[in-house]
Amino acid sequence: MTEQPADGLMPFHAMEILKRAKAIEASGRTVCHLEVGEPGSPPAPKVIEAVARALPQAQGYTNAKGMSELREALAGYYADQHGVAVDPDLIVSTMGSSAGFIIAFHTAFRPGARIAITRPGYPAYVNTLLGLGFGIAEIPLTAANGWRLTGADIEAAHADNPFDGLLFASPANPTGAAVDRAQLADIIDACRRLGVRLISDEIYHGLDYRGPSVSALELTRDAIVINSFSKYYCMTGWRIGWMALPEDLIRRAEILQQNLFISAPTLSQIAATVALGERDYSEAQKDSYAANRALLNDGLHALGFDIGDPSDGAFYAYAGIGSFSNDATSFCETMLDEAGVAITPGIDFDRTGGHRYVRFSYAGKRETIEIALERMRTFLSK
Ligand SMILES: Cc1ncc(COP(=O)(O)O)c(C=O)c1O
Repeated sequence: MTEQPADGLMPFHAMEILKRAKAIEASGRTVCHLEVGEPGSPPAPKVIEAVARALPQAQGYTNAKGMSELREALAGYYADQHGVAVDPDLIVSTMGSSAGFIIAFHTAFRPGARIAITRPGYPAYVNTLLGLGFGIAEIPLTAANGWRLTGADIEAAHADNPFDGLLFASPANPTGAAVDRAQLADIIDACRRLGVRLISDEIYHGLDYRGPSVSALELTRDAIVINSFSKYYCMTGWRIGWMALPEDLIRRAEILQQNLFISAPTLSQIAATVALGERDYSEAQKDSYAANRALLNDGLHALGFDIGDPSDGAFYAYAGIGSFSNDATSFCETMLDEAGVAITPGIDFDRTGGHRYVRFSYAGKRETIEIALERMRTFLSK
């Protein structure tokens, strides 16, 4: 699990831990899954019903940008949740936000361009950028600063090593750190001053525990905004997301979508259109994550993990393991093998300092967290 190929492409360690956990389960033992950022609940019942009804007919491709019903419903979402008018023609439905990144990178930049990302940050940012022939600039964040990115961080990193774009998420993975309106405005202003194109990953929107999520679209029309039905709408496996683009980029994004993916999956687009109207269901899931968040944070603190206040958003706790180990990978592997608790080593998110951290996902059931805390108590007291 510590391979380091010359081109910088690394495995997604959360998925490697999942693979190892599945092998343990196949041998008859149980595992508490806290490694993958995946809601424990299915999508809203009305989503499943709508898809069952649509199944016999929904067999073909859609328009490359996506069904007009979905794009109009997304424009409605921006009007209702964010008070902004977004032209449905500037929206592209994608195969999860993951496909949105590929389109965004090739729409806004050319291979060789350098894109800044935070460290720690979502591992696929680095791997996708490097794998597609782009360069990266890492902006280090600190626990002391709540893991939040600032305009000053961007300015300092750019002065050191200039870049063309910035990709960042709020709330973030793995820290759950979220910026408020003023902090987002500060980030957007720094990008504008430096001529840096912002890609705002808003996949955890709706899962802010301190107040409403603020979209970059409320503050600028120059950013590419990426979002997904995976997390808030509990639809990871449906592989459906969307992006909202500036006018100068939409045509190139459409052409890339036509050629790379043709269209997002038709049934998933139908499911997504219905999911947008089922926010009460998503809010109920959020309430359960909020309860899990408190339980896990208190439990980790009591066990001796280095952890501050509960995360601002998403469903992750990023905890220091300094009292136990300085090698997160072997710590996670031993914890999984001996205690049956699957968590993700920090090196997934930070290749420099992540060996001193682990990430817990609290998107699953409360019972899973209770059992995991009990198993860890036994494991760590040995
Ligand atoms: C910050 C962030 N962005 C994007 C993704 C990818 O999500 P999807 O492709 O399912 O939309 C994830 C998944 O965990 C994530 O944490």
